[in-house]
Amino acid sequence: EQIEKGGYEHFMLKEIHEQPKAIRDTYRGRLLSDEAIIKMAGVEDNMKTFLNANRIIIIACGTSWHAGLVAEYIFEEFARIPVEVEYASEFRYRNPVINENDVVIAISQSGETADTLAAIKLAKSRGAFVFGVCNVVGSSIARETHAGAYTHAGPEIGVASTKAFTTQITVLTLIALRLARAKGTMSSSDFRLYLRELELIPQKVEQLLNVDDHVKDIARQYLLSPNCLYLGRGYNFPVALEGALKLKEISYIHAEGYPAAEMKHGPIALIDDRMPVIVIATSKGHYEKVVSNIQEIKSRKGKIIAVVTQGDTAVKEIADHVIEIPESEEAFSPLLTTIPLQLLSYHIAVMRNCNVDQPRNLAKSVTVE
Ligand code: AGP
Repeated sequence: EQIEKGGYEHFMLKEIHEQPKAIRDTYRGRLLSDEAIIKMAGVEDNMKTFLNANRIIIIACGTSWHAGLVAEYIFEEFARIPVEVEYASEFRYRNPVINENDVVIAISQSGETADTLAAIKLAKSRGAFVFGVCNVVGSSIARETHAGAYTHAGPEIGVASTKAFTTQITVLTLIALRLARAKGTMSSSDFRLYLRELELIPQKVEQLLNVDDHVKDIARQYLLSPNCLYLGRGYNFPVALEGALKLKEISYIHAEGYPAAEMKHGPIALIDDRMPVIVIATSKGHYEKVVSNIQEIKSRKGKIIAVVTQGDTAVKEIADHVIEIPESEEAFSPLLTTIPLQLLSYHIAVMRNCNVDQPRNLAKSVTVE
């Protein structure tokens, strides 16, 4: 096992550090920036179905569901296709309105999640075309779907999903970009720009992993907090949910993720000087609005850990801690903002002596309904 961990203390830490390679492996051979094309056989072979779809319904559980939420923003922005994101467990028990004009994208790292598998079978029985995004090759979901695209994350052993999340977002982004070009909803110059930007993400993640010591210092100060709030907006709202899930599953600290603007509709009542609030405030993501949310937290004495874009000045003046991420297109920022949140959960869990790779009550794949 020590050999498999490659010198890291835990699989989770190893998998966090593998993300630059995993993201690169996921777009390799698919993203051809010199020719300005995206090649994905599963999409190409079914292009008509995708283009004629009334809407895309994304089904998944847990972290994969969060990747689906990021994809909702990306598909709607790039390809102008309406997207709904559903928990597989709710979708399958609800007699959903779905037919042959719908495209379903099922996302699953393991490809074995029972609720996702059952939701796929239901969608197929109603005539929908189902496309799978899985990591495990030959898994049940990969076999049950009509077509699909693998993430090439490599084996993910830690129960807390890390590289599966960022590679799922990468695959979904490639699909959205391909459909945007096919539909003509994105100009060829924007398309080229996005391809080049996406190719820069692995090196930005690499650079970002250097924040580890800084994040560890922050972790030390909050490891005894009983609660934690995560806020984000737009593309980074799902990242707030994912950050909260990561913290609760491995450190057993109660955490909630919220869209930043929803804070005033309830969670603000929780804020006092014992409440750490992690806020994602990227420079292109409704920045002024998020800054005003941060001011509201400050005036209630909440402790602010802000994830900001390099060069930020306004948030630095108010926040208790800032973690800088390299600049990128806002649509790709979840691939960056999620990294320090993974590290924060990891370090807090280690400092609390929790079993990081195998947290209590959890299994790597949930094959029960
Ligand atoms: C993530 O950290 C979790 N352990 C869990 O939510 C997981 O993402 C979920 O069970 C879905 O698994 P899947 O991607 O293998 O379908």
